[in-house]
Amino acid sequence: EDARIRQMKKGHELAASTYHSILTLTEEGAPGRVYAQERLFTQDQIEHFRIGYALNDWETLAVIFETNGLDLAVMAESGLLAKRKQGTGYYDLFRERLMFPITDSQGSVVAFGGRAIGEGQPKYLNSPETPIFHKAKTLFHMHEARPSIRKQNKALLVEGAFDVMAAWKAGVTNVVATLGTALSSDHAKLLRRNAEEVILCYDGDRAGREAIRKAIPVLEEAGCKVSICLLPEGLDPDDYVKQHGEEAFVRILDNECLSVMAFRMLDLKQGKNMQNEGDRLQYIEEIVQMLAKLEHSVEQEYYLQQLAESFTLPMDVLRQELSRAERLLK
Ligand code: GTP
Ligand code: MN
Ligand code: MN
Ligand code: MN
Ligand code: MN
Repeated sequence: EDARIRQMKKGHELAASTYHSILTLTEEGAPGRVYAQERLFTQDQIEHFRIGYALNDWETLAVIFETNGLDLAVMAESGLLAKRKQGTGYYDLFRERLMFPITDSQGSVVAFGGRAIGEGQPKYLNSPETPIFHKAKTLFHMHEARPSIRKQNKALLVEGAFDVMAAWKAGVTNVVATLGTALSSDHAKLLRRNAEEVILCYDGDRAGREAIRKAIPVLEEAGCKVSICLLPEGLDPDDYVKQHGEEAFVRILDNECLSVMAFRMLDLKQGKNMQNEGDRLQYIEEIVQMLAKLEHSVEQEYYLQQLAESFTLPMDVLRQELSRAERLLK
């Protein structure tokens, strides 16, 4: 590990304590505390996630880095500062935001996410890709969640940092997030190295549904057993905990997760009018095609039975259809 990388990490550690101290100890940190209170953060969460506040100021970090003898050009390369276009010197990239540190697999702070307080744009600002931060290989909270993920042999995957914090508050400690990027095969491998099962709990909106569809094959490719927890329309895990409470969140995770097949059966109904005969037949056909690809006949039989019941169809007709679909696959 060369001196440049060490310096970047040192600067990030310094930045994390600075933001955290501003939030928890200073008068100027009041807007951050007000926002943290609005989002119902507890003291426990603020400490565990080392939540902080970046002032509405252009050179809080720049001055601290300078005082500590860090090379500002290096810190700019690490994503915390930017070079002034006019004149000389550097300015802070994160301003007037609630800050959360992002750690690497060793637990070193290598990046930050910042949530605008109020209506500032963009809503979330994350560190750019840098020599110490690779988005497609990093999961938020992985280092902290790893013991719990290993112990339970299961990880909960959510979209955003605030969802991680809400789950953690509800006692679900084996939780990580992708932070606004699509789930990569490296993310999936990282999960698989620590657990067999991954529960996907993305936002209950179109984007979340689409992200689930995309994440399933990536996780399966890495050898993960996948299940899906669908949230009510319009809610993400953070909203859900707020509206329905921590116990309710734990309950749906424990009791209402869907298998991939059950998710697909539900998902395929979207955009179809099941009152319409043509749509209904097409739906049945699509399900049978999916069942044909399953390896285990017990599973096939189980879902075939469900299909027979929902559409009051004779099992032998469905079995014939399944055999035909299987022959076509070979
Ligand atoms: P809150 O209002 O804070 O609860 O955010 P949200 O739940 O509405 O966030 P959303 O579901 O829109 O986004 C999920 C995740 O995507 C966030 O946690 C971020 O990591 C990322 N994201 C959302 N908006 C932005 C943005 O404007 N810029 C970037 N870079 N990432 C974003
Ligand atoms: Mn503290
Ligand atoms: Mn969303
Ligand atoms: Mn969300
Ligand atoms: Mn949210």
